[in-house]
Amino acid sequence: MIAIDSTAAPELAQIHLESVDPAWSEDSFQALLQLPVVYGFRDQDFACFVLFSIIADEGEILTFATRPQFRRQGRGKKLLQDCFNYFFKQKVEKFFLEVNENNFAAIQLYEQLDFKKYGRRESYYINSQGETATAILMSRGRVK
Ligand SMILES: CC(C)(COP(=O)(O)OP(=O)(O)OC[C@H]1O[C@@H](n2cnc3c(N)ncnc32)[C@H](O)[C@@H]1OP(=O)(O)O)[C@@H](O)C(=O)NCCC(=O)NCCS
Repeated sequence: MIAIDSTAAPELAQIHLESVDPAWSEDSFQALLQLPVVYGFRDQDFACFVLFSIIADEGEILTFATRPQFRRQGRGKKLLQDCFNYFFKQKVEKFFLEVNENNFAAIQLYEQLDFKKYGRRESYYINSQGETATAILMSRGRVK
């Protein structure tokens, strides 16, 4: 895994365009990655990336995506696992995330990484067509 900074914003916005609706703009990525609590990582080939916010001993996945042509190759899961191992060594004890309840692929992946569902937020997401969807809240601690 390789740490990324705000200079990666154009690539991140491009991957988002292919992955998420609504995608975040280059400016949003640039601004986020300038915040001291936000950490970004990519894999060697820049096939996938993830952004975390880390505050004290808790982390949150802000966004995470793999380019479509590189999906189902274990890349996203490996990147997240590497990040968790890194952050656990930095004494981050617990991670949180929100995921669209219709996002079966991501929920499967998070469950494989020991995330458990603990709540939901109705109509949390709204896509570019104005359709709403429920967010599932998930968390995991350090797994022995
Ligand atoms: C979710 C996402 C990041 C997964 O990335 P990926 O690199 O393809 O994931 P991996 O190859 O590491 O998959 C690991 C496991 O997750 C599950 N999984 C991943 N994609 C899946 C799919 N399309 N359908 C069902 N299960 C899936 C599988 O269990 C998979 O293991 P397997 O291939 O051995 O069965 C990718 O699909 C993506 O970018 N989606 C759009 C953006 C997104 O939804 N981000 C998450 C927002 S919370």
